Amino acid sequence: MRLATFLLCLSQTLARVTAIGAAVDNIQLGDSFWYETIKHNGISAAIPNGKNWTVFRNVKDFGAKGDGTTDDTAAIQKAIFLGDSTGTRDAGRFGSTGQPAVVYFPAGTYVVKSTIKSAIGTLIMGDPTNRPTIKAAPSFAGTYLVFGRDQKYSGLVGFYHGIKNLVLDSTSVPTTKAITLLEWGVSQNNLLSNVLFQMPPGATTHTGVATPGMCSGLIMNDLGFVGGGVGIALTATQYHLKSIYFQNVATAVKLTSLLQGTGQGLRFDSCKIGIDASSGVGLFNLIDSTATNTSTLVLASAASTASGSLVLENVMVDSSVPATIKVGSATTLTGSIEPGQAWIRGNIYVPDSPTPKLSPGQKVPTSRPQALVNSTGFYHTVVPPTYADLPASQILNVKTIPGLPVLGDGVTDDTASLQAILARAAGTAVLYFPHGIYLLSDTLTLPPGSRLVGEAWTQLSATGAKFADARRPQAMVRVGEPGEVGVAQMSDFVFTVAEILPGAVLVEVNMAGGVPGDVGFFNCHFRIGGARGSAARTGCASPRDCLAARLALHLAPTSSAYWENTWAWVADHDLDGSGETYPGAAGGVLIEARGGGTWILGAGVEHHVLYQVNINNAKDVFIGLQQGEAAYWQGTGNTLLAPAPWTDSLLPSDPDFGWCKANEVQCRMGLYQRISRSSNLNIYSSGFWNFVAGPSRTMCSTDCQDNAALYESNTKMHIYGVSTINSKNLVLEKGLSGNETVVAATRAANSGSPHDGFKTGVVAAYFRQST
Ligand SMILES: *[C@@H]1O[C@H](CO)[C@@H](O)[C@H](O)[C@H]1NC(C)=O
Ligand SMILES: *[C@@H]1O[C@H](CO)[C@@H](O)[C@H](O)[C@H]1NC(C)=O
Ligand SMILES: *[C@@H]1O[C@H](CO)[C@@H](O)[C@H](O)[C@H]1NC(C)=O
Ligand SMILES: *[C@@H]1O[C@H](CO)[C@@H](O)[C@H](O)[C@H]1NC(C)=O
Repeated sequence: MRLATFLLCLSQTLARVTAIGAAVDNIQLGDSFWYETIKHNGISAAIPNGKNWTVFRNVKDFGAKGDGTTDDTAAIQKAIFLGDSTGTRDAGRFGSTGQPAVVYFPAGTYVVKSTIKSAIGTLIMGDPTNRPTIKAAPSFAGTYLVFGRDQKYSGLVGFYHGIKNLVLDSTSVPTTKAITLLEWGVSQNNLLSNVLFQMPPGATTHTGVATPGMCSGLIMNDLGFVGGGVGIALTATQYHLKSIYFQNVATAVKLTSLLQGTGQGLRFDSCKIGIDASSGVGLFNLIDSTATNTSTLVLASAASTASGSLVLENVMVDSSVPATIKVGSATTLTGSIEPGQAWIRGNIYVPDSPTPKLSPGQKVPTSRPQALVNSTGFYHTVVPPTYADLPASQILNVKTIPGLPVLGDGVTDDTASLQAILARAAGTAVLYFPHGIYLLSDTLTLPPGSRLVGEAWTQLSATGAKFADARRPQAMVRVGEPGEVGVAQMSDFVFTVAEILPGAVLVEVNMAGGVPGDVGFFNCHFRIGGARGSAARTGCASPRDCLAARLALHLAPTSSAYWENTWAWVADHDLDGSGETYPGAAGGVLIEARGGGTWILGAGVEHHVLYQVNINNAKDVFIGLQQGEAAYWQGTGNTLLAPAPWTDSLLPSDPDFGWCKANEVQCRMGLYQRISRSSNLNIYSSGFWNFVAGPSRTMCSTDCQDNAALYESNTKMHIYGVSTINSKNLVLEKGLSGNETVVAATRAANSGSPHDGFKTGVVAAYFRQST
């Protein structure tokens, strides 16, 4: 859906706007983008003198002109690197969570002569109503126009960077010079959205985005690429590419060493190659995509093993596309893959056979649940809201409302004021939460009509006795009451715990959206420990003594929600320090939703004790990509075998590990994905990685975890792509041949190419519970 249509739907859904602006002091006249003009009083809540930390930085205040001729390099760089009173931005071995920055570009063309370098915790952002351009000068010196990752840190700990609402432009740079518009070698908890990459046509040495190194990114969304040699050059364990168009790019997407990826809503026009998957790809799903005037839509590898798996589903080409799939110079498929079919290459499991069939590439009939698709059969997708069509008077800064003090300082309990503000704003205003740590000692309930916007990952943090009882889990943020239908949207937040809270459920969603995305979460993440502002940072030498949280996210039975770009992380290391940490949180994402559809795009869920994702008695669930990692301390050498340390407080929905013997240490590890008694599930690109074993974190050299996924008694479940590193079995199943839990898919039967020396497994499609 285009932005305007989406916002129209939204405003139709909301109640009438009433005048509440009189009570606030942040009203601005004119129709400029509200975020540019609103009062900016964000702070860093957890560093010395953090109230003086400058979060919002308008590049024009630093001397940038944006006039299309002045060299703005130094001014922009100054805005990014502005530090504290000591004049520096610096941090520990793994980064800093205490130096958040939004570097804001008003509309204009900002010419730069050398690379703009970002820093950890920084969102580089333009005005979405008139996207500003960062333009490389003809004399540009450097390999990258923007270096989006803080170069002080390895990409594997490259979290908390963002780029949105911009045009990056190399059209003035000679077509013979090598330039990449964005270095994006980052991992989870990053944002790359609503950016146009503009390159000269035919400039084969110009690249839009590159992700050098081996990083763990989740999603890039709502982008455009015009001209150039390569649009996106991906080397990463996984990526979800959503709603991206490529026009006149020689190779739109070049995959190198990608283990698992999804392209959803990709549009290729006048490219030579759409997706170059000819080298080192585990599995790629291309869905809901179209191509015109493109010589080869997918260039596949010649591999005849599980590696090089491909799924194309609902991919439409017209007669101007001579080859849908090519291997080498041979065309192996022409024409479209119509709705209701998938073209699959790789290992397929079908209901009546216990062994995989290696498909060299064939069409198979498939289906999609009605609730998940629009009237032309595409999965619903949503453009992340900016609320840019609203006047500033309809945006309220929660820290400026008289009589309802809110501090976001990591010390004051903000619950009561925020609850009152939510009630007043429901259906009338969007709430802006300047950066800070907002402590919540009680459940904060979002009523229908709630729209909340954070800033460079504003933190909502649980505190106090309410969340202390492992046997009575309580939500910190509760989105609606069971059965409620309406609007509840959140963007740019981190949900966390200020203390060790065995009963904390960080977010519980009960509400169902009237239309998909009405209940929507964009660029919202979860973090348990590993950062300033939380006792789970330093008090977690052992998970036995650190039952840090119960559950990251619960999509409860009546909910219908859309989540895009989310990472639920139980910290394995200290982002503000140098050490390893061992908080033990029970569960990651629990999906019990039956309220009309659940959409999850670009999700990472890591290091929880019992499971990363648990889909239990749910209906109508789409997952575009799920990345998962086990808790690093589990596995060989660990004495705290799952479900410990949560044995005494298991919920009915929790796995009990009854399929493992009592002392089986590699069996008693958190499942990456467990699906039971559910129906109407279409799940793409599940990537489950295990790199180290046990408290000593010994690098794994062989199968270090027994089981990755458990599928129990489901119906109409279509799984496209399960990939593993270091798992002995990819899939356990139950309910097809009796009540025993049995091994259904082993790595040995599905082995892929080694990845950095690790053993991999790849199943292209698992349909054994699809009837
Ligand atoms: C912090 O800001 C306040 C108000 O501008 C100022 O009075 C104070 O000196 C600053 N503190 C430091 C350490 O810079
Ligand atoms: C087809 O694509 C080529 C580039 O590959 C371009 O030069 C040509 O103009 C395109 N034709 C149309 C009709 O768009
Ligand atoms: C369904 O979604 C696709 C992809 O977003 C879009 O191109 C198509 O127009 C939509 N169909 C309808 C009827 O809205
Ligand atoms: C499986 O369990 C159910 C419920 O406990 C029981 O009714 C059924 O007979 C069992 N089936 C087999 C094959 O053991």
